[in-house]
Amino acid sequence: MKQPVSGFSKKSKLEKIEWLAENYLSNNPSSAQNLKKYWNEDDQLQQLHDDFIENTLSNYYLPFAIAPNFLINGKFYALPMVTEESSVVAAASNAAKFWLERGGFKAEVISTEKNGQIHFNFYGNEKSIEAFFEIVKPKLIESIQSIEKNMKSRGGGLLELSLVDKSHILEGYFYIHATFETLDAMGANFINSCLERMAQTFEEEARRFEAFQKDEVFPEVVMSILSNYVPECLVRAEVSCKIDELTSKNYDGKQFAEKFVRAIEIAKTETRRAVTHNKGIMNGVDAVVLATGNDFRAVEACVHAYAARNSYYGSLTHAKIENDIFTFWIELPLAVGTVGGLTSLHPLTKLAFEILQKPDAKELMKILAVAGLAQNFAAVRSLITTGIQKGHMKMHLMNILNQLQATKQEKEKALDYYKENAVSHNSVTSFLKNLRK
Ligand code: MEV
Repeated sequence: MKQPVSGFSKKSKLEKIEWLAENYLSNNPSSAQNLKKYWNEDDQLQQLHDDFIENTLSNYYLPFAIAPNFLINGKFYALPMVTEESSVVAAASNAAKFWLERGGFKAEVISTEKNGQIHFNFYGNEKSIEAFFEIVKPKLIESIQSIEKNMKSRGGGLLELSLVDKSHILEGYFYIHATFETLDAMGANFINSCLERMAQTFEEEARRFEAFQKDEVFPEVVMSILSNYVPECLVRAEVSCKIDELTSKNYDGKQFAEKFVRAIEIAKTETRRAVTHNKGIMNGVDAVVLATGNDFRAVEACVHAYAARNSYYGSLTHAKIENDIFTFWIELPLAVGTVGGLTSLHPLTKLAFEILQKPDAKELMKILAVAGLAQNFAAVRSLITTGIQKGHMKMHLMNILNQLQATKQEKEKALDYYKENAVSHNSVTSFLKNLRK
């Protein structure tokens, strides 16, 4: 039976690997050596990565790619993308090229407000908590002066505080809703520091408040934390063209546009389709979020809650045809940063920002929305025309060849053969078998 370990984090990296090999890889202890293969030979660089998290044993590689030819508000971008999914970068690049020939993408930031809450219990008279909140509000603001100083000097900081009564839903539950402008920072640390300090002041002042003392009922803070739901931090991206411009050798522009709009309507109506549709959007968004060192879990959680804001889960993209013009757009709530966190620490995120020509947070929001829109366009275009598997399996071919340990020559022959033939695991296996006879 396996035994618990104490003081594991204090062991050296080699000791940790040894412990792992003995305890969890005893059938094949040498497999632990793979961890060392991925160590960087530059010790300083390796140390930097070791220090990102606790108990680091090695590095986990994902491809870092670029999708060029994105024209956004008249400016060219090559989007850095980190993803394991084989068709994502090719799809983004195709969509970028397609829209480059039709005027490119337009994007605008609608709002940039973040928020957080001090959640507390209060079982007394609601009039007295309202009266207390009005009195304590300036003191809460004052208490974060030192935390806010730098952010304020740059034009950001706390925007507003309000009291929200949720006691009709959960007995005794109230919160203070705080809104913030965090400029180019994602703002999690700043917001949480402000909230925790205000929560402390709130409780201290409450102990001195007469009405509470009289009733012997005081508010009790449960927790203080930012919300990753940021529907007031919104960006919109759009493409449009005459429907004639959608005509290709394989389909008529009007038919294509109508089928496309229908596909979006289906994703707006049916959750089973909407989830996959939005997953495709996030293939593009997450890849750029990851490349720029931002928090993809925060972005994911927020975006899906937003997709369900009308009490059902629907498409994040929209499409219409008006006066023979096809318009396709997306609205996304995105809390991302271009300073702080990993953004200036990881050498490849630094590079990603250089590739993007050092955007501020608003510009990054626009780029991300465009990445999602482009990815969704590519997916829906394939779905309503050739089907998804053709392009998908073409990109997956190299993975299958690698799995079957094809040599360089075998890969060249396979790539040539599958220009004209449908890719499947079985077919590639037989193809290689024939070659190897
Ligand atoms: C695959 O990763 C994403 C798609 O399923 C998205 C979609 O169906 O719209 C192709």
